[in-house]
Parts: sequence; C-alpha cells; structure tokens
Amino acid sequence: MRKWAVALGAGGVALIAGELWAQEASKSVWDGVYTAAQADRGQAAYAQNCANCHGGQLAGTGEAKPLAGPEFLSNWNGLTMGDLFDRTRTTMPMDRPGTLSRETYADALAYVLKFNGFPAGPTELDRRSEVLAGIRIDAYKPAASATGAGVLAAARVADPPNSQPNPYVADANFFKLPAGRTMGSSSGVATDSRGHIWIGERCGANSCAGSSLDPIVEFDAKGNFIKAFGGGMLLFPHGLFVDAHDHIWVTDGHTEPGKGAQVFEFDNTGKLLRTLGKAGVSAEGPDTFSEPNAVVVAPNGTIFVADGHTPGKGPARIVKFDASGKFIKQWGTRGGAPGQLEVPHTITLDSRGRLFVGDRWNNRISIFDQDGKLLDIWSQFGRPSGVYIDRNDVIYVADSESREPEGYGHHPGWKRGIRIGSARTGEVTAYIPDTAPNPDKESTSGPEGIWADGHGAVYGAQVLQKAVVRYTRGKP
Ligand code: HEC
Repeated sequence: MRKWAVALGAGGVALIAGELWAQEASKSVWDGVYTAAQADRGQAAYAQNCANCHGGQLAGTGEAKPLAGPEFLSNWNGLTMGDLFDRTRTTMPMDRPGTLSRETYADALAYVLKFNGFPAGPTELDRRSEVLAGIRIDAYKPAASATGAGVLAAARVADPPNSQPNPYVADANFFKLPAGRTMGSSSGVATDSRGHIWIGERCGANSCAGSSLDPIVEFDAKGNFIKAFGGGMLLFPHGLFVDAHDHIWVTDGHTEPGKGAQVFEFDNTGKLLRTLGKAGVSAEGPDTFSEPNAVVVAPNGTIFVADGHTPGKGPARIVKFDASGKFIKQWGTRGGAPGQLEVPHTITLDSRGRLFVGDRWNNRISIFDQDGKLLDIWSQFGRPSGVYIDRNDVIYVADSESREPEGYGHHPGWKRGIRIGSARTGEVTAYIPDTAPNPDKESTSGPEGIWADGHGAVYGAQVLQKAVVRYTRGKP
C-alpha cells in the first residue's frame, strides 16, 4: 500500500491523495479489505458490544436488524464502507452511540464483512471514513456473474423470459390445518404414492427454534389434515423429498448447540429411521453438513445432498452417499465457472438419473451425472429455488428471488414464479407468475419448494407468504 507520509508541497500532497483516491475508489468488499486478525479482534468487539441486540449469528433480534444475509446485503448494496462505518459509529451501539473507538468500529465491521462471506486480505479495514468511502459494497460477486452461466446454455435460451402462457389457476386455501395451527414458512412439499401431500413448515413462523410444534405435516389428497410429527427435532425444515418407499426425507438448514445441520429419514408413520450429519455440528465433512439445503434419493437408494446456503461462505457442494449412508464423494467448488456452484439450493433427478442442481446464486441449473461430471447448464428456467422433475420428465422450477435492482437476487428481465417445461429438451412451455405485489422489495416471494403429483396438480411452498399453494390447469 502507498504510504501517506510523503513529504511534498501542498500541490504534491493533493496529487498523491488524488491518485490514492482514484485507486481506492475502484475497490470493492470482494477485494480483501480487512485482515483475518482484525476480524478476530472484531469478533470479540462484536460479542461485547453488538451481540446482545444483533444476536450471536448476526441474524438480528427483535428491532435490531440482521447484520448478515440477503436483507442486510441488499440494504447496503451499492453504498460504501464509509456509509456503513459512519452509520454504525454515529448510531450504534443503540444504547450508547459513539462510545467506542474508531478502531473498534472498524474491527467490528471487519467481522461483519467476514461473516457475510467477503474475503480477508493483506490490509486492515481503515478507521477513516474518507478512505472507507472508497470501498464499494457489492452484494453480488462480480466474477460470478461474468463467467460461467450461459456458456453452455446460450443455445438453449430461445423464448424471451416470462413470455410463456399460464394455463394454471391457484388455490392458496387448499390445505386445512387443525384448529389453532397456522402454516409457517415452507420451502418443502412433496406427494407420496397414495397422493398424500407432505409439507415441511417452520412451526407457524419462519423457524422452529424454541417451538414444540410438529413441523412435518401430512394431508390427504383433498387437503385434509392427517397428522404431523417431528416436534423439537428440527430448527429449520428446508428441503423435503419423498422416496420410492414413501419415506419422508427432510433437511434442517440451521444449527444450534446439539441440534440442526442434519438430514432426517422418516417412514410415513413418523418413525425416525436414520439421520445423516451430526446434530448441531455445522461443518463441511464426510459425515457433517454445513447448511443442508435439499436431498434426493435415487431409486437404488443412493443419496445426494446439496449443502451450502450462504453465498461466499462455507461449502457449495453436492455430497453423495450410498444406500447405507456411507460417504462416497463430493463435488462443487465455490464460484461461477461451469462446474462450480455458489448456492446449490435444490436438487432432483430426471428419468435418466441425471442430477439437476438449482444453483440459485448463479441463476442457473447445472446438470451432472451421478459422479459429478457436468453435462449441461440451463438458465432458461430462471433463478432456481426449487426444481422438481416428474416421471415423464416434465420439469417444474420455482423462482422466488429474481429482481430488477442491483443487489441480492439481481436478475434483470426475469420475473419470479414457476416455469414448467421439458427436462429432455430444455424447452420452457408454461410460466405461472408470482402474485406478490412488490417482488423487488422482498428478497423472497412466491414458491421456493415445488412438486407435482403427476395427476395435474402442482404445489408451491412459500416462505414469505407462509402458504403452500395448489395449482391446477383451469380456465385461462
Ligand atoms: C441496544 C441494542 C443494540 C446494540 C447494542 C447494537 N445495535 Fe445495531 N441496531 C439496533 C437496532 C434496534 C437497529 C435498527 C434500528 C436502526 O436501524 O437504527 C440497529 C441497526 C444497526 C445497523 C443498520 C442495519 C441495516 O441494515 O440498516 C447496523 C449496521 C448496526 N446496527 C450495527 C451495529 C454494530 C456494529 C453494533 C456493535 C458495535 C451494534 N449495532 C450494536 C440495536 C443495537
């Protein structure tokens, strides 16, 4: 780094400062703008001065907003570290603003950057607002958008996005819960061989932490409640899959001491048959998961888990186990190049046994063989939160995040909703638009989880609206 202490005349200093300004102004939070040691100091400072309100995981509590994740990143995207620094320094800690040293604020923000997945580098985050004003906050990793997506898929993108017809009508009140229970946020829905519908919902809220409600709920084909189980076992039911034996597989994407970061297999009476991963251990390993998003089980019992929910942080991988649960292999390095993954949010199989991985952050579906060889990349189904393929190779893709503004979910020209087409040819034939009034204002809306029963009904599980919607072909 250039030194400031250069003895020159006034004009010379201005010139040097001007050069430095120009150089610094082109920086972004992806360029390694804090050091690892600083983030460690910052972690201690955060624990002492911020955690009581913003929470140990930076997820926010009550009025104190989250300092990590999509909401935080989209609030600050396009602004600078100078803005964030001054905002924090002048208003935080809320109960005694401005009482910490500039160094301590800088350290705490270094930790916030680290927690959000921005890389460390050789130089500390400065304590001067004017220098920090030269560091742009880019929620979206520039390299990820510039490479990869579309290289293999270019030929596939034919129709303009959002242009396909919608032959479906929606029923948001199909499922009848018992008195006293309401549907929580859901990203997992599936049907079994009897036509029953299984939903993983987050205990009437968007998390089951501290709740004893049963989050795995069974309905008959008419939407009548049958039973529920799993109370106290899961924190954040995320992916849900019903296998060839009508076993219910659920991933738990959150972690607290002794709970979470696991994949559960239940039989359809609710008996727990086995778990993968270690309860409460969020880590990348052959027998642990970081944030397991989704699971799919092949007809021969081979298990594939998509792991890693946070862009820029932790693993972004597919983990393969044999039918007995023994680790076979994993693949996926983080990034946007072909074969890389950033947020493998959803995974399913087609009739030929090809794995379709919905890589949400990269706005694409990557298709692999069962050994991890990349076969194709499709971007014509939007930004995938959920992908399901029925036995006739009709593919259903839920896009709950595309939006116009820069920042989280940036996918200009694409609208949210469900896209339906062929898993053989890649053609998109139908598009069910999301009905949320202000999609650009929310990081998620409309269905994330998706399934079709093979008899004309499509189910979309929604996080924001806390509902599971049933779509059937109806009058246009
Ligand atoms: C006494 C509780 C409390 C403490 C302690 C606290 N905050 Fe906050 N913080 C809040 C509340 C409440 C808000 C939301 C209201 C607002 O935006 O001013 C907030 C908002 C913020 C925001 C704006 C977030 C956004 O996306 O708009 C930042 C950044 C922030 N705090 C950082 C910090 C840091 C860093 C610390 C520790 C040095 C800290 N806070 C300590 C209560 C607290």
